[in-house]
Amino acid sequence: MPSRSIRWGLLSTARINERLIPAFRSVARSELLAVASSRGQEHAEHYAAQWQIPRAHGSYEALLADPQVDAIYLSLPNALHAPWAIRAAAAGKHILCEKPLALSAAEVDHMAEAAQRHGVLLQEAVMMRYHPQTLQLRQRLSGGAIGEVRLIRGTFTFPLERPGDIRLDPALGGGSIWDLGSYPVSFTRAMLGAEPIEVQGWQVAGQGGVDLSFAGQLHFAGGALAQFFSSFQAVPQAEVDLIGSAGAIHLDLPYLNKVGVDSQVRLSRLRPARATGTFGDASSQMEEEVLTYPLVNAYQDEVEAVVACLLEGAAPLVPLADSRGNIAALEALCISAREGRVVRL
Ligand SMILES: NC(=O)c1ccc[n+]([C@@H]2O[C@H](COP(=O)([O-])OP(=O)(O)OC[C@H]3O[C@@H](n4cnc5c(N)ncnc54)[C@H](OP(=O)(O)O)[C@@H]3O)[C@@H](O)[C@H]2O)c1
Repeated sequence: MPSRSIRWGLLSTARINERLIPAFRSVARSELLAVASSRGQEHAEHYAAQWQIPRAHGSYEALLADPQVDAIYLSLPNALHAPWAIRAAAAGKHILCEKPLALSAAEVDHMAEAAQRHGVLLQEAVMMRYHPQTLQLRQRLSGGAIGEVRLIRGTFTFPLERPGDIRLDPALGGGSIWDLGSYPVSFTRAMLGAEPIEVQGWQVAGQGGVDLSFAGQLHFAGGALAQFFSSFQAVPQAEVDLIGSAGAIHLDLPYLNKVGVDSQVRLSRLRPARATGTFGDASSQMEEEVLTYPLVNAYQDEVEAVVACLLEGAAPLVPLADSRGNIAALEALCISAREGRVVRL
């Protein structure tokens, strides 16, 4: 790595950039250097001036040819992640690519192969996975915080009322499962540290063909089960419950998708010396612990982790095999919904 700090280029002027721009600036040894827009030089320059970004490129090709840029943040519509990640790798740029990393396991394999061949890092920008709330919860579960995990249930919904949004376009990889369902599936796999062995999904498709609502179930080796619901047709909801043999956990902001709001993890456990409840009613025998995490800008954790990989050789917090597992599960869920059958992985 030639530079003492990582010089980032934004590949697109997507709305999500607004969350990452402060993160690129607040992390030590990270510098936001350039932006590119497919809408031409004028648009790129206007955007660069608005966000005080030193260099503006009127095409993605020009950004990839910029020798000053070490790494790109790829915030394109989902269907463009794989082709542009592969081109960025060939140009020798490290890549932080928005979630979902791709739309099939085969695409992830092509991206991984390109990154390996050109010696660059490819990381999925699945912010919640880098945040202490997620990392500490995983440790607590491994330590038996709620005994054996029996069920993880996640919801992520909001009403999408913006005509022309990339999320409604099948050609761009739209659909609630890719945009929102990818979070509970990734969260569940991270908590269990395992991949599902079979999945089943149901979707409600809109006129354009993308799913507007999706419900899915996953079965893991060892017996843990998961259920999730994603939707563009419901009020904003983002919650996760984990139910175990010795306790339960409720997360009120599992995907950490708000800035400036504290998140809470509510753990309830059976007291060790409890009396035997009648008809399973042991709620009075539970003790509760609440952990609070102040949310400043959780995207900073993600950028910090990637910079540590690049400058210190730290191991990726979300290895590519993990991102691939998520895409394989989502792909299988889509096949299940389309074909009306359980899909084994
Ligand atoms: N991690 C998170 O919290 C989070 C949150 C929201 C979204 N995301 C992810 O970020 C990505 C972008 O989402 P967004 O809502 O920010 O997107 P968006 O505002 O719709 O922007 C997408 C950008 O992609 C570029 N683009 C290139 N070809 C395009 C095409 N054919 N159609 C539309 N846009 C095209 C455009 O930039 P130029 O014209 O300037 O090149 C456009 O501004 C998605 O993968 C999404 O899943 C992540």
